[in-house]
Amino acid sequence: MGSVAAIVLAAGKGTRMKSGLVKVMHHLGERPMVSWPVAAARSAGATRIALVVGHQGEKVRELFSADSDVSFAEQVEQLGTGHAVACAGGALQGFSGTVLILCGDVPLIREETLATMLAAHRERGATVSVLTTHLENPFGYGRVVKREGGRIIRIVEEKDASEEERGICEINSGIYCVEAEFLFRAVGSLTNDNAQGEYYLTDIIARAAGESLLCFAHPCPDPTEVMGVNDRVQLSVAAAELRRRINNGLMLSGVTMVDPAATYVEAGVEVGADTVIYPNVHLSGRTVIGCGCTIEPGVIIRDCSIGDNVTIKSGSVLAESSVGADAAIGPMAHLRPGSDLGPHVKIGNFVETKKVVMGEGSKASHLTYLGDAEIGSGVNIGCGTITCNYDGVRKHRTVIGDNVFVGSDVQLVAPVVVGSGSLIAAGTTVTIDVPPDSLAIARTPQVNKEGWVKKQREK
Ligand code: UD1
Ligand code: CA
Repeated sequence: MGSVAAIVLAAGKGTRMKSGLVKVMHHLGERPMVSWPVAAARSAGATRIALVVGHQGEKVRELFSADSDVSFAEQVEQLGTGHAVACAGGALQGFSGTVLILCGDVPLIREETLATMLAAHRERGATVSVLTTHLENPFGYGRVVKREGGRIIRIVEEKDASEEERGICEINSGIYCVEAEFLFRAVGSLTNDNAQGEYYLTDIIARAAGESLLCFAHPCPDPTEVMGVNDRVQLSVAAAELRRRINNGLMLSGVTMVDPAATYVEAGVEVGADTVIYPNVHLSGRTVIGCGCTIEPGVIIRDCSIGDNVTIKSGSVLAESSVGADAAIGPMAHLRPGSDLGPHVKIGNFVETKKVVMGEGSKASHLTYLGDAEIGSGVNIGCGTITCNYDGVRKHRTVIGDNVFVGSDVQLVAPVVVGSGSLIAAGTTVTIDVPPDSLAIARTPQVNKEGWVKKQREK
């Protein structure tokens, strides 16, 4: 197999986005739009990727700064798609093989489609292959003019097309496979003698046909793959399509989604079979969810690992944490980074955890803050418990042994250790370590003043 490189065009500003941010940096499915075609090209086998940048080029460069296979070409003035490709010549210096050309604002193109097009391109010994599709309303797109046998003679832009050519419904997607040697030779000699005064990349087809080199159309059966994003309405359409793909994949693998159109799962998140996801759930990052879980409405989970048969109730927010099997979280619980909860743990409403290890079957059912703590198994944390972990300067740890019962409204002033099997009485402020199997109680003795209220009232 010959080598493959890619050029991704991303120099345009995207005026119709009406934005201070360059179009290709707008997010689609939690990542900048331009990262999708780059990923597709890479998966299809491109070992070198040249990005043509212009408007806010520094932002695009920054995005790929860690990717050694990506290089950049600056197109200072956007003089047309042909000029943009010519600019990429330097970045692909010394490359000979097939060049995939993609657009930064055509984000839904699939790796499989590119791989199939590449294979067909090679099999036919083509110099240029153009990914095309049929549209009922082809307005605005370049039309594909063909000869018998499926060979393309030229592509004509809407503004340059004759009446008859405008009637053609097969359009140019703007995605191509082109042999490198021909490509850079052809874009080097384009002219801008057309309705828009631009250097059209599409003119290389007539050029190749003129040299009797083979140019073919490769049909893309699913038009949504080649939809361009030009404004925020189209961005939302693309986002919905991406969601549809991800969610269909999960549903076909055994996940129930009550309303997939309102379920937001980032690509790469794993969810086990027989898990039920309710609407307005957001799952992102490196999240892995087990089998048989229930994720109730409005739950937000990022970078978490959730075991099997876990219930996460409405409105809970979880980040960078792990939850063991058969646990129950929420409603309205907040698991902050570093919460490592064992199996059968129960975290109830308005409980916040951070950097906490909690053993099997421990419970904190109501109104509690647990931070920088190590909690054993079988522990009951009463309503209103607070680990006072911060003294204004430093954070300190709380350690609670197995089977401890912490009563309601207890403050644990860290650093402090509570031995296993102990009982902390309600209302206690724990300031010194508690030995195992002991009762700790710190309360001001209660005094009843009989009839006091009545006397006040009668004054
Ligand atoms: C282009 C094609 C058209 C095709 C359509 C598909 C040409 C002449 N026409 O038209 O046949 O149907 O795409 O969407 O190629 N860009 C640069 N630098 C430039 C010009 C463009 O980087 O100087 C980038 C844009 O940012 C964009 C992409 O190239 O990502 C396509 O440019 P655009 O102006 O949208 O091309 P169209 O005129 O729509
Ligand atoms: Ca108190």
